[in-house]
Amino acid sequence: MVCTERAYAKLNLTLDILGKRPDGYHDLRMVMQSVDLFDEVSVETRETGGVTVRADLDYLPRNGDNLAVKAALAFFREAGVQPPGLHIQLKKRIPVCAGMAGGSSDGAAVLRALGRLYPMPREALERIGAAVGSDVPYCVRGGTALAEGRGEVLTDLPALPMCHIVLCKPDFPISTPELFRAVKPTRCHPDTAGMLAALKAGDLDGVAHRLYNVFEDFLPRRCQEVREIKSALLDLGALGAAMSGSGPTVFGIFREAGPAQEAAACLARRYRRTYTARPVGPA
Ligand code: C5P
Repeated sequence: MVCTERAYAKLNLTLDILGKRPDGYHDLRMVMQSVDLFDEVSVETRETGGVTVRADLDYLPRNGDNLAVKAALAFFREAGVQPPGLHIQLKKRIPVCAGMAGGSSDGAAVLRALGRLYPMPREALERIGAAVGSDVPYCVRGGTALAEGRGEVLTDLPALPMCHIVLCKPDFPISTPELFRAVKPTRCHPDTAGMLAALKAGDLDGVAHRLYNVFEDFLPRRCQEVREIKSALLDLGALGAAMSGSGPTVFGIFREAGPAQEAAACLARRYRRTYTARPVGPA
């Protein structure tokens, strides 16, 4: 049996770090949004072979380091069933190591697919997801949501008003654990309450003006391009712009399609990983 799911990319409309926890993780408060840039994830039960994964990018791990495999194994542990073989196929479109939860979203899509083959409620899938990675529970759910705790405590939010989003990933990686280590106590925080009120009011300008990711204040000097792309997006007419997650992808929100496409075309001359996207609702 084959089951295919879309794994949507996520953006952080806000990302706040509240403090370090005894378990080594950080308490976060983030407003998350899915966008229609997606990987295609299919799972196929087979007669033999254990859990295998193949992607159209050959440098992705093919073992338990791949979150898609991790998710499948966690699902089978919880469900108490396991087919003799499960093959996962990933068609990647979300850039890798970009701050858009590509790997977490693939893992979440595997959980949703398996939850259809071996029926399991969504809450259980989110709980299993928390053991796979901090962003996985949100990726199981998708849409617009507040993520707290390690990232796994979720509250649904009113949808982001329809808009056009330009995403641009410069060509260098940022290590998430390293960036967490660089963060110092700060008095600068996103206006999360204001963001929630703007979403409730359907106020796109209010949302765009409150985009804020505290990681941006602790980026190493070599990541200067993040600031340059952000300024470029604002110069090109974005209502607001911010880095997503631990970066380096930067996104800008536009009200109209035309200016978004023009901005994307302009950035694409320098950055080949430039995309336009629209918000999507829950998975
Ligand atoms: O949970 P996940 O494996 O995606 O986290 C990757 C890394 O990000 C962790 O090893 C940790 O260094 C950091 N992290 C954190 N606090 C969180 C989420 C992630 O410190 N809430």
